[in-house]
Amino acid sequence: MGDVAVIGAGYVGLTTAVCLAHLGHDVICADIDEDRVGRLNKGEVPILEDGLPELLAEGLSSRRLRFVVGAKNASSVADFVFLCVPTPQGDDGSADLSFVDAVAREIASTLRPGTVVINKSTMPVGSTRRVQRVLSEAGAPPEAALVASNPEFLREGSSVRDFLQPNRVVIGCTDTSVAVRVSELYKNLNAPILVTDPASAEMIKYASNAFLATKISFVNAIANLCEAVDADVREVALGMGYDQRIGFEFLYPGPGYGGSCFPKDTAALLYAAEQSGYDFSLLKGVVRVNEEQHERMVTKLGALVGGLAGRTIGVWGLTFKANTDDLRDSPALVIVRRLIEEGATVRAYDPAAGERAAALVPGLEVGSDPYEVCQGADALAVLTEWDEFRWMNFDRVAEMLQTPTVLDTRNILDPAALRRQGFTYEGVGR
Ligand code: UDX
Repeated sequence: MGDVAVIGAGYVGLTTAVCLAHLGHDVICADIDEDRVGRLNKGEVPILEDGLPELLAEGLSSRRLRFVVGAKNASSVADFVFLCVPTPQGDDGSADLSFVDAVAREIASTLRPGTVVINKSTMPVGSTRRVQRVLSEAGAPPEAALVASNPEFLREGSSVRDFLQPNRVVIGCTDTSVAVRVSELYKNLNAPILVTDPASAEMIKYASNAFLATKISFVNAIANLCEAVDADVREVALGMGYDQRIGFEFLYPGPGYGGSCFPKDTAALLYAAEQSGYDFSLLKGVVRVNEEQHERMVTKLGALVGGLAGRTIGVWGLTFKANTDDLRDSPALVIVRRLIEEGATVRAYDPAAGERAAALVPGLEVGSDPYEVCQGADALAVLTEWDEFRWMNFDRVAEMLQTPTVLDTRNILDPAALRRQGFTYEGVGR
């Protein structure tokens, strides 16, 4: 079936490695972090991701999956090498490809003839060619510098399911026979496979994420308008979603999008547009609406408690969305920082990432009990849509709070029920 190397054991690399092993391939996954590699070989999963522990255990016990330190130790025995290293946002918004370049240089001379290097991490248009060039310059034999783009479309929290049941598999490669070999890795999946040129494959990833971000900013803008005209955005989104051209998904208003992809990828696409002389004003608007949405939540809270200075706010949820422990670019952290800046005391609870959040936000107090963080607070703000928040005892919450006031930035609570319990309830666009 072909031996596979996966370079990088983060969210993308780990999911790719365990899922390819599950599909029957022999997989070696490399990381530079010795401790992480040691723990993974013992079956310990470093991130919160549904289904990952089970597939890791399966891969280890079937011996189709193992972890090693250092990219070379994986690439030298592989037919396919997946690059799954971070491509963080640089100071100017561009994607920083220094990790990708470093790995390409490191593995170049170890590649066997016929080995295909596959760009899995999100990389700007032109990266397939760039990796090809770096490999050649670093001594890869010409017949080993075969590079394809194969972007991931994995959502954190459901990445295993998204990998094994994808909407599509996209492969960008100038050489059709190489693309066919890559497509065979996915032959047991029931998904359309789109083979295209590298630039289009790379653009598909950015365009998809930018479009989803656009949907969210659009519905957030409509929500803000709904507040002004006394409409309910949830009804509006429902009525829109029945139109199959629009669909129901990604029409949930909130505190703005966050996470490891949308903010970074929209910035990188804007940078690329600027470099090519195109003024992507639509996408600039999407980003602006998103930033304004974070701030709008701060303003809402200020209005609810009559000024933030000297107030105490209880917060539920710090991760960028539910069912992940990822805090990267979390709107909740932006909001919490702003609240503290405005002179509020913030006591927060998060089911997965409280301790780590406390280390990131100076002055943030973190508690391990959702009720306790409400004790004596002037208001409660729900910032992440963790399911458990829906089922809290709100009589108890009301007793803990100074005055029963709640800002539900994810629209997950029942306003009518809460108002009956004496709460002042504020949502988004309803
Ligand atoms: C996203 C893409 O979905 C995925 O295809 C890509 O590969 C990586 O980026 P992820 O970052 O895991 O995945 O999160 P996603 O579930 O898409 O949510 C992103 C952000 O948008 C979150 O902050 C979420 O709360 C927010 N969101 C999402 C909304 O505010 N409203 C919605 O309707 C949907």
